[in-house]
Amino acid sequence: MKTKTLVILGFGQRGRGYANFAKNNPDKFKVVAIIETDKGRFDIAKKEYPDATMYSDYKVFINDNIKADIVAVCTQDEQHKEHSVALMAAGYNLLLEKPIANNKADCEAIYKASVKYGKKVIVCHVLRYSPFYSAVKRVIDSGVLGEIVTINASENVGFFHQAHSFVRGPWRNKERSSPMILSKCCHDMDIIRYLMGEKCLSVNSYGSLYYFNDDHAPTGATEYCSDCPYARTCIWNAQKLYTTDDYLWTVGYFSMVDKTKEDILKDLKYSQYDKCVFKNDNNVVDHEVTIMNFANGKTACHTMTAFSKTIYRDIKVHGTKAELYGSMEDNSFEIRYFGKPVEKVNIDLSGVNSGGHNGGDFYMMNSLYKELNGEKGEGITYLDVSVESHLMSFAAEESRLDNGKTVVIKN
Ligand SMILES: NC(=O)c1ccc[n+]([C@@H]2O[C@H](COP(=O)([O-])OP(=O)(O)OC[C@H]3O[C@@H](n4cnc5c(N)ncnc54)[C@H](O)[C@@H]3O)[C@@H](O)[C@H]2O)c1
Repeated sequence: MKTKTLVILGFGQRGRGYANFAKNNPDKFKVVAIIETDKGRFDIAKKEYPDATMYSDYKVFINDNIKADIVAVCTQDEQHKEHSVALMAAGYNLLLEKPIANNKADCEAIYKASVKYGKKVIVCHVLRYSPFYSAVKRVIDSGVLGEIVTINASENVGFFHQAHSFVRGPWRNKERSSPMILSKCCHDMDIIRYLMGEKCLSVNSYGSLYYFNDDHAPTGATEYCSDCPYARTCIWNAQKLYTTDDYLWTVGYFSMVDKTKEDILKDLKYSQYDKCVFKNDNNVVDHEVTIMNFANGKTACHTMTAFSKTIYRDIKVHGTKAELYGSMEDNSFEIRYFGKPVEKVNIDLSGVNSGGHNGGDFYMMNSLYKELNGEKGEGITYLDVSVESHLMSFAAEESRLDNGKTVVIKN
């Protein structure tokens, strides 16, 4: 198979990750161009990828007519439509970060452009490619669970991740970004739909922003953690969270990556990320339960919650012969056969050399490499399939805003 050429649009957390895959797997991808508007990130990209042509304006990149097998669109959700449509019109196939876009009209516009220009768009639904969910899918397809009747899944966002991304960060305000059921959970909608193997017909959803609001601010709490009398005791204190080793991956959003803790604290002071979690302009939910009605009377339920110590997803797949239970972060699951001993399946991640999502990012890039070489990349789907999870998410938001009314999905 041939090495494929890759362009990165948006050298942020995600874009840098895909470039890193190419660096670690030079036989598979070569980064030929990087487009990044932020000066600090531009400079880092230039240093890390000296052979790539650098741009700070995607229109200049388009004018230069550089040949590439795929462009990874890794800018923010609200930019996806403009960037995707322009790149497809210029003749590029896309690896598009999820969500496709943050509203239905923009998703449709991207879909129509892909048809009009005859371009492929692969959405980064990375869970599909993770060894955990790939193994779950293979078990389902093998038939040992019998017919799948119900799926029960949960997404535990992690208290610090919620505070960072959905209270202080880019996805905190649904008007400026998207509802959380889309920005965070379109992955889960996609995986549930994928494992169920049936179309989702309707949803009901309930949820709210229960905790991260003024009502829960302790008396005398200040706008910024830097000035707050509760700094030493507050769980959400920014100075504490952004200097905790386990959470350093979040620092890149306000401080140039690879800085010392002293530098991080300097950049943090009075930034958006120093703001009190109870005194922000966040309005996305911190908990949501979505009930899904699938074709042939099958059902699923998904719970998203901010309130967990760590980030983890777990899933129960109930079939007519056995149930499967596991958590992606444990890298194992059990097949609990009815009337027979339980089988434990462990997932091997030893081959993974880059990316997150428990191997999801790594195997997605491997699948993409195969697909671009004309072979079947396991898990690869195109917009027509990816859009289903988005329609489920939009329907869930509509339902949530209307006290859980049933919203029928028009696929
Ligand atoms: N697949 C997943 O699991 C997953 C996880 C997290 C985020 N995401 C999605 O990935 C996308 C990027 O998220 P991120 O966390 O990397 O954000 P980020 O803010 O770290 O990265 C976005 C980058 O795009 C750059 N940029 C902005 N406008 C630009 C322009 N016009 N031209 C070139 N560069 C531009 C920014 O400077 C920034 O470096 C978002 O859509 C997000 O929702 C997906």
